[in-house]
Amino acid sequence: MIRVASTRKLDRTDVLIVFAEESASKDQKLVQRWEALSGDASRRLAATLEKEGFKGRVGQTLVWHAGDSNAERVLVAGCGKAALRDVDQTIRAAGAASRKAKEIGAARVACTLPPAGKLGEERNAMAVAEGLILGAYEFDKYRARKENGKSFESVDLLGAPDRAVKLAEIYSRGTLFARDLVNTPAGDCAPRHLAEAAKKLAGPSVKVTVWGPKEIEKKAMGGLIGIGKGSDEPYQFIMLRWEGKKGSKKVALCGKGITFDSGGLCIKPADGMGTMKCDMSGAAAVLGAFSVISELKPDCTVYGYIPAAENMTGGSAVKTGDVLRTASGKTIEVNNTDAEGRVVLADSLTIAREDKPDEIIDLATLTGACVVALGDQVAGLFSNDDNLAAGIDAAGKRAGERFWRMPIVAEYREMLKSDIADIKNSGGRWAGAIQGALFLQEWAGDQPWAHLDIAGPAWTDRGLPFCQPGGTGFAVRTLLEYITAQGK
Ligand code: BES
Ligand code: MN
Ligand code: ZN
Repeated sequence: MIRVASTRKLDRTDVLIVFAEESASKDQKLVQRWEALSGDASRRLAATLEKEGFKGRVGQTLVWHAGDSNAERVLVAGCGKAALRDVDQTIRAAGAASRKAKEIGAARVACTLPPAGKLGEERNAMAVAEGLILGAYEFDKYRARKENGKSFESVDLLGAPDRAVKLAEIYSRGTLFARDLVNTPAGDCAPRHLAEAAKKLAGPSVKVTVWGPKEIEKKAMGGLIGIGKGSDEPYQFIMLRWEGKKGSKKVALCGKGITFDSGGLCIKPADGMGTMKCDMSGAAAVLGAFSVISELKPDCTVYGYIPAAENMTGGSAVKTGDVLRTASGKTIEVNNTDAEGRVVLADSLTIAREDKPDEIIDLATLTGACVVALGDQVAGLFSNDDNLAAGIDAAGKRAGERFWRMPIVAEYREMLKSDIADIKNSGGRWAGAIQGALFLQEWAGDQPWAHLDIAGPAWTDRGLPFCQPGGTGFAVRTLLEYITAQGK
């Protein structure tokens, strides 16, 4: 991870990042304030942008050989219309600049801030710093030759408040922790690997417990067992605890930890299976949040629960029509072995409820249907509690991650009616994402609960301005925003 240092004055640098806003109306020129550049350089840059037809859109970048300014090269990054720029857009703009700086082999980088506007000084600087760090991330553990071997290792961020930089570093470190786990091939990231990663997070204020197959059997978690037993890799149940202030609110986080989803006997076609190492992204988000929780010291108490298993075919795999008895006593007819996430989460909701949390948030790459509905940049948000839903939505906005509230349509519960068990795990094509939520709600009960279907935004095929192709680390920053805002 690159470092960001807040500085007050600009030293001569290799690449200087400046931002340009998109004009509010057609006949207006680009809005720009480049105090870091000399008057002459500023004028020449403006002329160059004009000639190049640079519009200042978010994600747009232009490299200019400055010559006589403070920098060898100036990297101009568009940051969109001032009125529209929020945390998300700012992270994208800075992320694009960071990725471009890597691409052009920048050795030393300095960056100025766009006008704070409605974001305020701190959020504005924090978002820029996050974009820079997240955009510079590369997963190169498996490459002999590092593509950007001699690229910059830090950025001087001009005029950034220290607190903004510090928070950005913490949030980004948590996010990149999740990205690393998601990007690690399933062959090297089995349930036991997730458990090991969790154990490494244990410390004076973070407690980690891992149950292996024996304890899971003792707890009669038939859902996790049923899904996990088709694999040679033993299933695991991971629990993490952060104790906040005495008597404070208790938030439980459940993250789907399917380390590979082949679909089981209802095997996925090759096309759909290619990226299924990402099916533990919910678990990665929970672990990412816990990886930095002791630096943020939230007032509330936070518990994490991760059902970790591989969904495989095999001689002992669950068969269609099998009935699984979950820890709560409720039974599930598995009519589709590829709807496995909800089955393992059912058991974790039960275990989570034993700890009497005030609210439960589950995160899961649960349905392709949610990706059809919202695409790969928006997560589905389902909840039986309007307050909780609003809190998560607001945290998402502050973090620059997009959630959209979806309905839990009680009438659709019928789709999941089983002839022989309490519920079946799949009810056909329609409203697939809602079916997932309805299924989980059976185990959440009236406990305040939210379900985040992150199947879309957990992964990017083509890459994003602030993320190379692969795992995105989605939801870590929203979780951190959420838990640090809970007092009681
Ligand atoms: N892990 C998948 C969902 C998924 C799809 C995640 C695309 C990321 C990208 C999940 O386990 C699954 O297979 N869901 C099925 C459910 C169906 C069988 C009811 C789906 O969405 O097709
Ligand atoms: Mn599946
Ligand atoms: Zn899955």
